[in-house]
Amino acid sequence: MNGKVAVYPGSFDPITFGHLDILARGLELFDTVIVAIALNIEKKGLFGVPERVELIKGATNNNPRVIIDSFNGLLVDYVTRVNSRFVIRGLRAMSDFEYEFQMASMNRNLNSDMDTIFMMTSKDYFFVSSRTIKEVASFGGSVKGMVPPNVDDALKKKFSRT
Ligand code: PNS
Repeated sequence: MNGKVAVYPGSFDPITFGHLDILARGLELFDTVIVAIALNIEKKGLFGVPERVELIKGATNNNPRVIIDSFNGLLVDYVTRVNSRFVIRGLRAMSDFEYEFQMASMNRNLNSDMDTIFMMTSKDYFFVSSRTIKEVASFGGSVKGMVPPNVDDALKKKFSRT
């Protein structure tokens, strides 16, 4: 991997336009951004990790500056393993702040080299989250314009009642 590398971690269950906006802006700051799916055993996802990888691949058009990976265990260990020290996270609202501040502080406490870069989510997506997307899609509501078309299709398939 060449140049400056950042890790964009998350559940990405599934990836939304909010995530893609943060990713695009991260690519303006870094040469390579690794989208890293946390294999959190407590959180049973709607999509399996291989499905999430495929959805992210489709949504990022196989951009060579975007690497899609998954990790187990601590984020700080993963970031060190990929020779980075930067984490990117999006902030939607004040309500995100407390959790994010706690997480970034804990990560920095675990590894003082690590820095988290927060970006404010674009105004168009501040109400979009994977959780609300899944809820709306599960009841047959439209999530068009909030997720990329491949994710929209995948959600329709998941929740199809036919
Ligand atoms: O998209 P999410 O679910 O808000 O992402 C949360 C994530 C994956 C970034 C966070 O849970 C994480 O970093 N998990 C890895 C375990 C870890 O390092 N925990 C210590 C931070 S408190």
